[in-house]
Amino acid sequence: MRFKKPLDVLLKEASATGEGSLKRTLTSFNLVALGIGAIIGAGLFSLTGLAAANNAGPAVTISFMIGAIGCAFAGLCYAEFASMIPIAGSAYTYSYATMGEFMAWVIGWDLILEYALGAATVSISWSQYLVKFLHYFDITIPPQLTMSPWETVTLADGTVVSGMMNLPAVFIIICLSLLLIRGTRESAFINNLLVVLKVAVVLVFIAVGWGYINPANHVPYIPENTGKFGEFGWSGVLRASGLVFFAFIGFDAVSTAAQEAKNPKVGMPVGIIGSLVICTILYVLFSHVMTGVANYKEFKDSAAPVAVAIAKTPYAWLQKAIIVAILAGYTSVILVMLMGQSRIFYTMSKDGLVPKAFSNLHRKFQTPYKSNLLFAGFVSLFGAFVPVRVVGEMVSIGTLFAFVLVCVGVLVIRKTDPQLPRPFKTPWVPFVPVMGVIICVIMMLALPADTWLRLAGWMLLGLIIYLVYGKKHSVIRNQGNSVTLDPPTTPFTK
Ligand code: ALA
Repeated sequence: MRFKKPLDVLLKEASATGEGSLKRTLTSFNLVALGIGAIIGAGLFSLTGLAAANNAGPAVTISFMIGAIGCAFAGLCYAEFASMIPIAGSAYTYSYATMGEFMAWVIGWDLILEYALGAATVSISWSQYLVKFLHYFDITIPPQLTMSPWETVTLADGTVVSGMMNLPAVFIIICLSLLLIRGTRESAFINNLLVVLKVAVVLVFIAVGWGYINPANHVPYIPENTGKFGEFGWSGVLRASGLVFFAFIGFDAVSTAAQEAKNPKVGMPVGIIGSLVICTILYVLFSHVMTGVANYKEFKDSAAPVAVAIAKTPYAWLQKAIIVAILAGYTSVILVMLMGQSRIFYTMSKDGLVPKAFSNLHRKFQTPYKSNLLFAGFVSLFGAFVPVRVVGEMVSIGTLFAFVLVCVGVLVIRKTDPQLPRPFKTPWVPFVPVMGVIICVIMMLALPADTWLRLAGWMLLGLIIYLVYGKKHSVIRNQGNSVTLDPPTTPFTK
């Protein structure tokens, strides 16, 4: 028998207020900011340069457009679900309602890869930029403490140093987890500030750089293929789109906060599609300017390609300010990822699939602080001890897998529950979800075999936990299909 979470129960949960529920404090503006907060980050400020230098040249702009199209298909599917089932938990909750408990567990477990490891990936890049920034002030953190044990660096005197742990990455994760425990509204306020700052930097960069574009740098726009698949030419543009896909990850984080949205039916589609559209426009303009101001070859091996481009203008003094804004930008990505993760775990815990303790709300702050603490530890381990490429690719494969399941979910629910009101309807079904599946699967196939193995290992671990714990404690299984709302687990006073 397939155990599904009945939609009427979900909707009742969504409209529940008061004790035991999350507070509805987020406006549409907050939600777009939340989306942009999760989206603009390491993908734009680090990967654009790498993708241009190694794969696409100036045509990295086209790669961004391809990545955006793939995300738009998935985003349209997310928006239908998020407006229909406006409850914390995102794709996990949608699958629970459409494809049953087992698939919900699969996707919930898989989303840990996107959110928790996404936060870990960006925390590692954050650490690299921090090291660069501190250098301006002659402050040096011992290199052993800024890398995972699998990495080495050659110092100026030729000595090779191996990493021990990435301490700055752990530092930022712990700080932001504590901020999240302090409260959603407080976190949203700080997030808004960070988003304004990073969007300002992107706009300043575009405005300042536009006048210094050297048209010669854009010729040829798509450099000739070297003879190897993925090295320039159209295959390079495609490979680069797989790489810069990372830059779009996060728009779905909006849907994890559905239960805290003031008007989720409007806020969800506006938040998801709005942040995706704004970011795509910014990315294309940004990368056009970047590859116009400096030649794409100059970005090879640069951890801070933006600084390389700025140095070509008379505004080199802007570099420090830009690095500060980039650090702020990364901070907001990590914040939203950590928040999304704790909300998904909160929902899984309410459903009994993981221990109840993780849905206890903090007495004073009413946040799922035990989830926050658990992931502060888990994400820190990855940030401290795993190389960025490994976590980054796991994030991509996990996210793409989630996108595939959400697209399939829309097809399923259109068949199983065609009569349900849908404040936002995915247009052109089945074309949009089917294209979403095809594009995401193609991008998954482009990822290396070891990443597939890690995905398989992670999912196997999840399966064991489900069989040993989740299945036995599932609220839906234990109560049949007629679930009532959980009684409040902690006082809810504010
Ligand atoms: N999209 C986010 C970033 O680029 C994950 O950092």
